[in-house]
This record gives sequence, structure tokens and C-alpha cells, in this order.
Amino acid sequence: MHRGQVSGWDPAVASRIIEARRQEPGAMLPILHELQETFGYVDRAALPLIADALNLSRAEVHGVVSFYHDFRSEPAGRTQVKICRGEACQAVGCRELVATAERRHGLTLGETSPAGDLTLEEVFCLGNCALGPAVQVDGELHGRVTPDVLDALIAMSRSRGHA
Ligand code: FES
Repeated sequence: MHRGQVSGWDPAVASRIIEARRQEPGAMLPILHELQETFGYVDRAALPLIADALNLSRAEVHGVVSFYHDFRSEPAGRTQVKICRGEACQAVGCRELVATAERRHGLTLGETSPAGDLTLEEVFCLGNCALGPAVQVDGELHGRVTPDVLDALIAMSRSRGHA
């Protein structure tokens, strides 16, 4: 979980966020971003609240949420790992990194462990191309990451109390 997030979905907090931003031009994206920053994901229960506030249909709100891959519809694991699969990182071995991480943790990219302690995700450039393979763990960027380094980073995240 990132700093500043609240734990668990809270409709009262969500309604305050939506109410505070509903008059902004193009309010939907700022609302979705703030909901995700606050809760770590955009709960399905937020969609009708947003639709009502912005006079849109639920299908329209749902369409926006699913169009932008940054928005997640379920809580992420307490440790969040994003592995870059962009071209520059592929050239320096990210495929092996992905395969090893998936095997060691029994997850495929995009999945969260059943216990909710780890999410593995893919991204397609972290702006760290000269230092690939690049990985983000709980929002922190790391370069030249090997499978063993990734394990150490995950262990450090857990020891900080993320899991
Ligand atoms: S391609 Fe991986 S950081 Fe740019």
C-alpha cells in the first residue's frame, strides 16, 4: 500500500472526493485518479456515484475506467511490483526476469496473490531505459534488476510492513 492511502473502500470519503471535483472541467479523470490514490483502486461502487454526479450513464463511466489501464478495479497486493516489458528492457533480459518472478511467486503478470500480499504487473516503459531491466516496487524505481535483486526488493517491502 502506498503512503497516503486509506485502507478499505469508504463510500462517504468517495462521495466527498466526487463532490469536491464534480464542477471541474473534465472532472471524470481527476475524480478517478483521486479515488485510486485514496483507496489504491476504483471500487465498482464508485461508478454509479460518479455517473449521478456528472449526469452520465454508468456505461460511460465504466468505459472510461476500462479504457485507461492505470485504473484498477480491485485492491492491489500490499507489495506492488511493476516490471517493465518495454523494448529497451526486453533487450537486456526482462523476459527472464518476468518468467522467474512468475515462477517463484506462482503468479502471472496482472495477478494478485490470493493472500493479497503481492501484485505483479507489467508496464511498457518506466523512463529508465538506460538502466534496464527496470522495475518499480511500491512506487520506487529500480534499475538493472536481476531475479535475485527483485526477490530482495520484495523481501524489503515486506519487512517494511507492506505484507
Ligand atoms: S523500456 Fe523499460 S524503462 Fe523504458
